[in-house]
Amino acid sequence: MVNLDKGYVDAPIPEGIDLKEEILRLKKERHAVIMAHYYQREEIQQLADHIGDSLALAQLAAKVEEPVIVLCGVHFMGETAKILCPEKTVIVPDINAGCSLADSCPAPEFKKFVEAHPGHTVVSYVNTSAAVKAVTDVVVTSGNAREIIGALPEDEKIIFGPDRNLGNYINGLTGRHMVLWDGACHVHEQFSIEKLLQLKKENGDAQILVHPECPKPIRMIADKVGSTQALLNYAVESDCDKFIVATESGILFKMREKCPGKTFIPAPPEDGKCACNECNFMKLITLEKLYNSLRYMQPEITVDKRVAKAAVKPIERMLTMSRDLGLIK
Ligand code: 13P
Ligand code: SF4
Repeated sequence: MVNLDKGYVDAPIPEGIDLKEEILRLKKERHAVIMAHYYQREEIQQLADHIGDSLALAQLAAKVEEPVIVLCGVHFMGETAKILCPEKTVIVPDINAGCSLADSCPAPEFKKFVEAHPGHTVVSYVNTSAAVKAVTDVVVTSGNAREIIGALPEDEKIIFGPDRNLGNYINGLTGRHMVLWDGACHVHEQFSIEKLLQLKKENGDAQILVHPECPKPIRMIADKVGSTQALLNYAVESDCDKFIVATESGILFKMREKCPGKTFIPAPPEDGKCACNECNFMKLITLEKLYNSLRYMQPEITVDKRVAKAAVKPIERMLTMSRDLGLIK
């Protein structure tokens, strides 16, 4: 019997094995595909078949042919994959990989919030539990929120949750007055405006890249605000060769890989204890846990069937709208 008490397979790693080789061998044996978010550890990104932001991972989950998806990301990403592919086995190597933003929006309170706003369309960020998605009309990610919300009829009343910063950003861009749930991500809220301005003073030639989950003062000094993928694309395409990056530090791996001649400086958090911001949930996924998850095919993501039936509609609506808007293929 496999021990899952800790939320991941707690089994010893056989001595002397090459972990990376064994993961690739097991992946083949299990007919599995490994998908990773850009915030994953370098060594996980190096092994993944697909790396992407939240939108790409949802889109890929709906498309991949393999019967097993190992999602190196956080719990809501695994849930989204399972909801889109109920017949597949979806594994997240450590079930403790949660999300402070999703946790800032418990489903029972969100349902009350929805009920308190009759006649409003409910738009939810993908960083939510399946139960929140089940009371949602359309899901968005940071990669499509502006376009999807912009495509809704102008007189449509909207409530948006859970990220107040992204909601505030979209309100500003679209001129909407969406009613916002008061949630936030602990990583993107941590950046210090004073330290960022100091960094900019020391690196006058650098451009500032900011994720829209960051608060307004940080967004206001950005040269580019965008989803993880959009920031990466911007860095690749820009003529500038130095960037200060205000988002989770995992993306720096891909930025440096794709732009070998350019310099990327992680924006410092408020407490100044380190030079980077890391999502402790994303970093829970390690090579050892990935290896054991493939070996024992656990921990598997399950979603209550009734919840999944309701939650799949707003996720599919997001994918359809994203395709119609030319954001994904
Ligand atoms: P994106 O992947 O949409 O950029 O969102 C960032 C994030 O915080 C994922 O949890
Ligand atoms: Fe959630 Fe923030 Fe971590 Fe993304 S970076 S998974 S929003 S806690």
